[in-house]
Order: sequence, then structure tokens, then C-alpha cells
Amino acid sequence: MNNIISVENLTKSYGDKQVVKGISFNVSECEIFGFLGPNGAGKTTTIRMMIGEIGADSGKIEIAGLKVPKDMAQLKTIVGVVPDFQNIYDRLSVRANLEFFASLNSISKTEVDRVLDEVFLTEHQQKACKNLSRGLRQRTLIARALLHKPKVFFLDEPTSALDPMSAKLIRELILKLKNNGTTVFLTTHYMEEADLLCDKIAIMNQGNIVASGSPQGLKDKIGRKAVIYEYNVDGEMQKVEFSLSTKEDREKLAALLREHEPIKIHTQEATLEEVFLSVTGDKWNNSKENNQ
Ligand SMILES: Nc1ncnc2c1ncn2[C@@H]1O[C@H](COP(=O)(O)OP(=O)(O)O)[C@@H](O)[C@H]1O
Ligand SMILES: [Mg+2]
Repeated sequence: MNNIISVENLTKSYGDKQVVKGISFNVSECEIFGFLGPNGAGKTTTIRMMIGEIGADSGKIEIAGLKVPKDMAQLKTIVGVVPDFQNIYDRLSVRANLEFFASLNSISKTEVDRVLDEVFLTEHQQKACKNLSRGLRQRTLIARALLHKPKVFFLDEPTSALDPMSAKLIRELILKLKNNGTTVFLTTHYMEEADLLCDKIAIMNQGNIVASGSPQGLKDKIGRKAVIYEYNVDGEMQKVEFSLSTKEDREKLAALLREHEPIKIHTQEATLEEVFLSVTGDKWNNSKENNQ
């Protein structure tokens, strides 16, 4: 897969505090790239530099062969952004918000119907945004960012504080975008969401990328390749662990399966949550406290 985003040695300080400390990563075309990390890790600051909203102190950012911030005018035509706050006009309807944005950006109003349909908002289009649930407002934001059919889509914590149904719908939308050829750059602190959606992940902590790879690759690194087999002998529960890496253990497991009906068999694969905690460690707790 070709790289569509490349970031090299990016840094940013606020006052004397460096909040992004020389990070580098690549994103391949048409993948969902998950940018994870505790509050205050520097995720939003990184996105804001990538979309040219704030300047980096040093480093290089290239998106689809264009340089940030030099080629910003061209970049705006291929990049869509869903920020981490809901900046829509509350008194306007969903449709009016989208039409207003379209007219500001010389986008044909026919695109409004397309995006309303894409995010399942057609039936809500006449409602004033102030009367919408958080989930519907979030979909309005997504629709707005999709008006110009971006090739690269940034979403900063898109399912934060949403009810499970709204979050599910947004995840489905993200997958649909990927399947239609969009590259997605997603920040989230929901590990299950990242595991479900992302092809590749970078975990950021205190301004550094502390782990990266596919969700499976990361889980394999810290998990055990083993299963726990639970069965019953004369009313007493037995529990045995077998390594999946040795032939001897696999044969013992096969023998047990023949002899004793299992009550439960569970793999010992690590969850992404465990990966996250292992690479962010105590700092995770510290940074949570620092940001409360
Ligand atoms: N405009 C700003 N001025 C000063 N400090 C900021 C500003 N924006 C972010 N920070 C600080 O930079 C650090 C990283 O913040 P941010 O990028 O928002 O983290 P994340 O999105 O991972 O939660 C935090 O310590 C935050 O307080
Ligand atoms: Mg943030």
C-alpha cells in the first residue's frame, strides 16, 4: 500500500512545555489509522498541525504528496475534518447548516442531499440543530466534512460521549468510508473501537509515540499464545492452561477434548486495553489526574 500521509519528527511546544516531542509515522492509502492515547497525550495538537490549523515548531507533514502548510489551499480540497467539538450553528436546521457551508466553499447544493443520505439524516434535515441529540449533531458534523468528498478524513474522538447506538452508527459510517476508498485518521480513547475499526494504530503518551502496529500485532506482542480449558470431574471444576506454541501441549489439549467435555475454553490473547495500559503504564494514571 502507498503512503498517503507521512509525518516526520514533528514537534510542538506551548510555552516551555513540549507537548509533541518529535513524532514520526506513516499512514497507508485507504486504511483506518487509529491514533490513541490518554487525555493530554498530544493527539489533538498533532491533528491540528496536520490540518494546518496551527503551525508545527519543526518537522515535516506531507498528505497525498502535498506539504503542510505550504500547499494548504490545495489540501483543503482533499481533506475533511470532524473536530472534537460540535461547532455547528444551533439556530439553523441541519440542512441550512450544510447549505451554508456548501455555499461558503463553492460546493454545489446537490451535494447536500448526497451527504444527508450518506449519514442517514434525510428525515431530520429540517430540525434545528439545537433540538438534536448529541449523536445527530455529530452526524451533522460528519455530513458537513463529507460535502467535498475528501480523500483523507480526520475524526477527533467522534464517538466520545455518545450513546451506544449512535456510536455504532458512526463506526459503520467510518467503515463505509474506508470501503469507498477514503483514508481515515481517527483518534479515540475507546480501545474496543480501535480494535474493531483500525488497520494500524499508534499509541501516543506524553508527546511520544510509544507503540505502533496492527491491533493484532500489538496484542500478540504482549499476550500469551495459550488457552485455558475448564471441565468438570465428579462435580469439581478443573482448569488447565495449555500453550499453543508447543506440540506436547497441543496434544494434551486434544486428549483432554476427547475425554472431557469442556465447560469453557478461553484464549489468553491480550486485549488492546491491556496493550494500551502496558505501554502507557503509570503515566496513564498520572496524566489522567493531571487533566482532571
Ligand atoms: N492551545 C493550547 N495552549 C496551551 N496548552 C495546550 C493548548 N492545546 C493543548 N495544550 C496542552 O497540550 C497537551 C496536549 O493536548 P492535546 O493535544 O489536546 O491532547 P489530547 O488530544 O491527546 O488529549 C496538554 O497538556 C494540553 O493541556
Ligand atoms: Mg484531544
